[in-house]
Amino acid sequence: MTIAEQAPAPPAPRQVLPAEERHATELAFLAAHDDGARPPGWVLTPRAVVTFVCGSDGETLELPRSRAKAAGADLPAKLAITPKFVGERALVERCVVTLAGERGLLLVGEPGTAKSMLSELLSAGVCGTSALTVQGTAGTTEDAFRYGWNYALLLAQGPTSQALVDSPVLTAMRTGRVARIEEITRCLPEVQDALVSILSDRRVSVPELAGGDDATVSAAAGFTVIATANLRDRGVSEMSAALKRRFNFETVHPIADVDAEMALVQRQATATVERAGAAFSVDDAVLDALVTVFRDLRSGRSAEGWDVERPGTVMSTAEAVHVAASLGVAAAYLPGGDVLDLVPGHLLGAVRKDDAADHERLLGYWDGPVRRRAESGSAMWRRLWDLRESLR
Ligand SMILES: Nc1ncnc2c1ncn2[C@@H]1O[C@H](COP(=O)(O)OP(=O)(O)OP(=O)(O)O)[C@@H](O)[C@H]1O
Ligand SMILES: [Mg+2]
Repeated sequence: MTIAEQAPAPPAPRQVLPAEERHATELAFLAAHDDGARPPGWVLTPRAVVTFVCGSDGETLELPRSRAKAAGADLPAKLAITPKFVGERALVERCVVTLAGERGLLLVGEPGTAKSMLSELLSAGVCGTSALTVQGTAGTTEDAFRYGWNYALLLAQGPTSQALVDSPVLTAMRTGRVARIEEITRCLPEVQDALVSILSDRRVSVPELAGGDDATVSAAAGFTVIATANLRDRGVSEMSAALKRRFNFETVHPIADVDAEMALVQRQATATVERAGAAFSVDDAVLDALVTVFRDLRSGRSAEGWDVERPGTVMSTAEAVHVAASLGVAAAYLPGGDVLDLVPGHLLGAVRKDDAADHERLLGYWDGPVRRRAESGSAMWRRLWDLRESLR
């Protein structure tokens, strides 16, 4: 049998599911569990959105049978909501309140602090979809916020509503949903300013449609915008004052609590390694060392209070997750040695990105905290100290 004659292979599973599909059961459960009043267009109550994003703190929520029946779907009777975004609940509550007031929400912070993740979770919890997204780049044009045309139809029919192609923002306006704008500060200022009129007038006119009913799209109740901005890119300070005024700003900080960061790194690295078809078998002690190095280099101070020279590269939790996952994949697929021996090489890959001096700073960290911990008798740090040559 030739390859062409073989039955077609089943479609490969998707690498990443959007939040609303990944957590579909939780969303349906929460919608039935909390049947309180909700703002127009919302699929969950504001309180349930917070629970969806932060988890139910280990508590198992129970769904009365009558409500499960009323919801129609096949829902579990009990469910503990998994924690997703790790951080202050109060921050998430403020975000939810902003959105309920139909104000724009701007999440700002260092790279890898889960701004995009939070925006995705919030929009899935509020309106049931996180898909109405515009990725801001230097090449983003106003069309990405307004509309474009299907040129074949435009040539055949002229500017009709069939030939009009809605942007994700326009779709969100028509349907009363949340539009997400990623990395808004990477867009040119004049392109960003297209949002000013959208967020104040709440309508977009399409003058090409010459006066018909469709010539103006007015936002349906529930429409709002969540934007993200990275502090390492061109800053939010360069946004126009008019646009800034239309957003509530929330700063997303790196995870403050070491145990919470460690648990998150373990959870997410485990999930990544399982997606790669293997089991996660890296010791907690190795992960602990990894997270410690990341936190020390990020903050410029070791857990013991010693000064550390911070590299220019951001030592984000997202990056710690990637390194932990690489260790997990190596342990599963290339077993043999001690996985601890791989830590320096992976760290160097994370640290040495754009500034050669960062390599020296990592060596400086080895000569400082790593050596002192080794001298204080820790076998693991002793081994890491012995591996200093592999950082050269
Ligand atoms: N507080 C946190 N809660 C949950 N996950 C976090 C947190 N901080 C970092 N992460 C990790 O970071 C990943 C998400 O990073 P995300 O892309 O959302 O960050 P970002 O802030 O948008 O970064 P960038 O500025 O580079 O776009 C998550 O998948 C998770 O592994
Ligand atoms: Mg992002």
